[in-house]
Amino acid sequence: MKKMLLMRVDLITIFPDYFSPLNLSLFGKAQEAKLIEVKVHDLRTFTADKHKTVDDAPYGGGPGMVMSPVIWGEAIDSVLAQATIKPVLIVPTPSGQVFNQELAQKLSNQEHLVFINGRYEGIDSRVVQHYQDSNKFSEVLEISIGDYVLAGGEVASLVILEATSRLINGVLGNEDSVSDDSFAPGSMQNLLEGPIYTRPPVWRDLNVPEVLTSGDHGKISQWRKEKALERTKKFRPDLDSK
Ligand code: ADE
Repeated sequence: MKKMLLMRVDLITIFPDYFSPLNLSLFGKAQEAKLIEVKVHDLRTFTADKHKTVDDAPYGGGPGMVMSPVIWGEAIDSVLAQATIKPVLIVPTPSGQVFNQELAQKLSNQEHLVFINGRYEGIDSRVVQHYQDSNKFSEVLEISIGDYVLAGGEVASLVILEATSRLINGVLGNEDSVSDDSFAPGSMQNLLEGPIYTRPPVWRDLNVPEVLTSGDHGKISQWRKEKALERTKKFRPDLDSK
């Protein structure tokens, strides 16, 4: 079957090197195979002053600096000018909706994602407002990867991209390994994955549970379910593990 471009990704940042891991592993291979096309854009190339300033003091006072809507607008519009369809705009921020497997699944079906990576205290709020109002993107999503504050959006974008790209059909070699994951929609929904083992059968006095070498697939899947329930109860009692 002929391989075709499945997803295009644009990332705008003041630290383009943050995204070099995208050339490794699964994502790197998907790029080489031209299944995913990635472009990293340096925000500072859109500045007009000799110091390449991207930030300014916050209105209303307070600590830190806020990123200029003027520079961001220029950068985002230049990416849009190259787009062939309306992309999804992703804005990593600790004040966004919390990222999860369901959102990764939804993003994996999109053809074009644009990530804007803020630093300092964040990007002037009119940027999100403008692109929400303007209809230039099919959707604008403000996404948090968890309840902690990073120094910028780059690592969050990498997390979102890694979780998303492995769900794109044809990117991951083994489709089954996706459906068995903790949190994957499917048979183990809402349960954490239980313990896993490989050879040797005894390591440092620790045995592989006997049931796994029994060959009884009914018993094995019942055991896995029990272990998954135990682990979910211990670490994630908030998950519905009925
Ligand atoms: N930027 C800073 N902290 C973040 C978080 N937790 N999620 C997404 N983007 C962020």
